[in-house]
Amino acid sequence: IPVDPFDLVIFGGTGDLARRKILPGLFRRFCAGQMGAESRIIGAARTDLNTQSYRDFAKDAVREFEPGGAKNAKHLKGFLELLDYVVVDAKGTQGWSDLTKAVRDDVIRAYYFSVGPSLFDDLAERLHKHKLDCPGCRIVVEKPFGHDLASAQELNQIIAKYFDEHQIYRIDHYLGKETVQNLMAIRFGNMLFEPLWNSQYIDHIQLTVAEEVGVGGRGEYYDRSGAMRDMLQNHLMQLLCLIAMEPPAKFNPDAVRDEKLKVIRALDEVAPDDVVRGQYEAAHDQAGFREQVGNPDSTTESFVAMRAHISNWRWAGTPFYLRTGKRLRERASEIAVVFKDAPHSIFDVEAGVHRNILTIKLQPNEGIELGVTIKEPGPGGMRLVDVPLDMTFAEALGPEEADFPDAYERLIMDVIRGNQTLFMRGDEVEAAWAWTDPIIAGWQERGEAPLPYASGSSGPDDALMLMHRDGRRWREIK
Ligand code: BG6
Repeated sequence: IPVDPFDLVIFGGTGDLARRKILPGLFRRFCAGQMGAESRIIGAARTDLNTQSYRDFAKDAVREFEPGGAKNAKHLKGFLELLDYVVVDAKGTQGWSDLTKAVRDDVIRAYYFSVGPSLFDDLAERLHKHKLDCPGCRIVVEKPFGHDLASAQELNQIIAKYFDEHQIYRIDHYLGKETVQNLMAIRFGNMLFEPLWNSQYIDHIQLTVAEEVGVGGRGEYYDRSGAMRDMLQNHLMQLLCLIAMEPPAKFNPDAVRDEKLKVIRALDEVAPDDVVRGQYEAAHDQAGFREQVGNPDSTTESFVAMRAHISNWRWAGTPFYLRTGKRLRERASEIAVVFKDAPHSIFDVEAGVHRNILTIKLQPNEGIELGVTIKEPGPGGMRLVDVPLDMTFAEALGPEEADFPDAYERLIMDVIRGNQTLFMRGDEVEAAWAWTDPIIAGWQERGEAPLPYASGSSGPDDALMLMHRDGRRWREIK
């Protein structure tokens, strides 16, 4: 469904995110007919470009990062015509009156703050000063949304000076991923799972977001951040919320976000020995973490695993195991819901013990798999085997249907539609920091260094122990 015409101003329009995600994503929506020719994208940055050179920049970005290739190439010219550029100094006076002239009053308007949080204050203030902060305007802000509770509160206060909460779209791109939204469809669109969705039937839940890549060129940022702040406080926390929340009464922004917030607030404080941190070592021709971030003494973690508990009626007694890291064996993200054993087995011991596991595969090969136990075919007696009921979306829906929009495409279109369901509310972000801050403070107080792990492994051995000591084990990263 096409969205209404809009002006999208991208502050940081020449930056990496604009190049890799925002511009290619908008192009794909244009190709899909969702974004019409009456809309405009206005790049705004300090870089000295003009509209033509910005269009060239966008052309290169699309060619490099948009996977549609030749199929979409015919739309490129039309798309580039929607692009405009204004040189704007976020901290100074240059360009603001040009920007005032560039935007229209009769279309939806959104400002994408694709810049570091240190500029949020200046941008918001200048938008206000130049009367660019119309009541219907939206602003989009990227993570990291602060680096602890105090800084997140400060950012929220800064933005709240000029914009209402209903105008603010805090992006966590994991919420834009197809399978992540499917999580809600699975839970609340089927009768099958919800009655079993509690500690009576679920033994534990595992959340894994494993990356094969290292910190790449983002060493400086990453050394200040680490896996806890970069991934766990936001992406894994969002997954945890969606998997654990109560059914919202409606699929609307506040109903969903209220339920997520309750999950975060019900999380217990994490005991020090329930968390394992790791840092990858050099391998073959690849530099190790410390070398990559340019800090030989770095004690920042590139891996974190933990056991979390949600103290409420639904989940008391069911642990949630979370792990995420870089330079692991493979890129594999999944949520595994491991059900309890049947209360009594009518079969011989030899038939073995079997468990149902519902796996929601986020990437790659998005899909859902339900492990069920059946009789092993053949005359060998009543022997049981586990088989997967496998619904890989690309197979079940066909490659066309499974050609999902990238998370950013979907989220930007939601901004234009004015739908905040897949965006984080200020109180949610603060509650998430309130939970992770003491964990990080504990490491600092105890002077704890992360454990080294081999690149291409599944993280430090102690992470395996985290589950072994409970008589459980991680699913293999494969
Ligand atoms: C980002 C993190 O938010 O998410 C990166 O800053 C990480 O460090 C990335 O690599 C992972 O996203 P995806 O979509 O590739 O799983």
